[in-house]
Amino acid sequence: MTPDATALPAADRGVLTGEEYADAGRLSDRISVYAWQRPRLDLGGAVLARLRGLPGPGPVLDVGWGTGALTRRLRADRPDLRVIPVDLSAGLRPEVVGEVDRLPFAGGSVGAALAMHMLYYAAEPANAVRELRRVLRPGGRLVASTNAAGDKPQWARLWTDTLRDLGVTDPPPYDRGDSRFDLEIGTALVREVFGAVEVHDHRYEIAVPGAGPVLAYLHSTRGQRTRALPKGLTWADFRSAASDRIRAEIDRAGAFVLTGHTGILTAVA
Ligand SMILES: C[S@@+](CC[C@H](N)C(=O)[O-])C[C@H]1O[C@@H](n2cnc3c(N)ncnc32)[C@H](O)[C@@H]1O
Repeated sequence: MTPDATALPAADRGVLTGEEYADAGRLSDRISVYAWQRPRLDLGGAVLARLRGLPGPGPVLDVGWGTGALTRRLRADRPDLRVIPVDLSAGLRPEVVGEVDRLPFAGGSVGAALAMHMLYYAAEPANAVRELRRVLRPGGRLVASTNAAGDKPQWARLWTDTLRDLGVTDPPPYDRGDSRFDLEIGTALVREVFGAVEVHDHRYEIAVPGAGPVLAYLHSTRGQRTRALPKGLTWADFRSAASDRIRAEIDRAGAFVLTGHTGILTAVA
């Protein structure tokens, strides 16, 4: 656990809604490399398993619904549940536009709250977990997911090595973007707020055999990465040099390999 990671600045709201998640395009490009995930983690199936025994009163909130894939899966498999998508970004067309730390729902009114790979964006992750607890009815369930601190170290390596290729002697640190609520910090926060937490962690490999999907993933991160580039370098410079590295690695090893470590946190209100 990085003790001061929750003190890292929150992502800029305007960047999230106007750029990063203005539509689902960049997120979809990142999700596409999971076609090569082994062993597979069926996140939708894992959520469905954790919702067994519901309903009782109250809807299921899919907070930070992204592409909407999880809501669509839940609606198909559990038509008895009322699933309400909530998202900060109006461009993603959720049913409710709202922030995870200020949910427009009455206290104790919700049957389950899902916060999948999104709590690291909250203005203050600890407040967001308390807010999710507030809206849940007694016995209601929180299901949250996030990455561990050691998830996909290859991106940081690619960042540093590529900048060195471009003549940067002291590359700026790689900002993972999810450190404010990684699996270690998230487990501690959820345990603190709910009293107990169940953790399911999953380690996997993604071996992508062609450069296209890797480059699409990389390009989807251009907003944040461009802002971190040393003066004088453009995203086009970085992308082209990174592409050479990615292609060389695929020629050498047959695939560009990412080693992932993610987890699902479950708690009962
Ligand atoms: C990495 S995506 C995850 C999407 C989806 N849950 C998934 O697992 O594929 C993060 C999502 O959270 C949304 N988001 C970011 N900050 C938020 C906030 N403070 N409150 C609600 N949604 C937020 C983004 O717009 C985006 O849809």
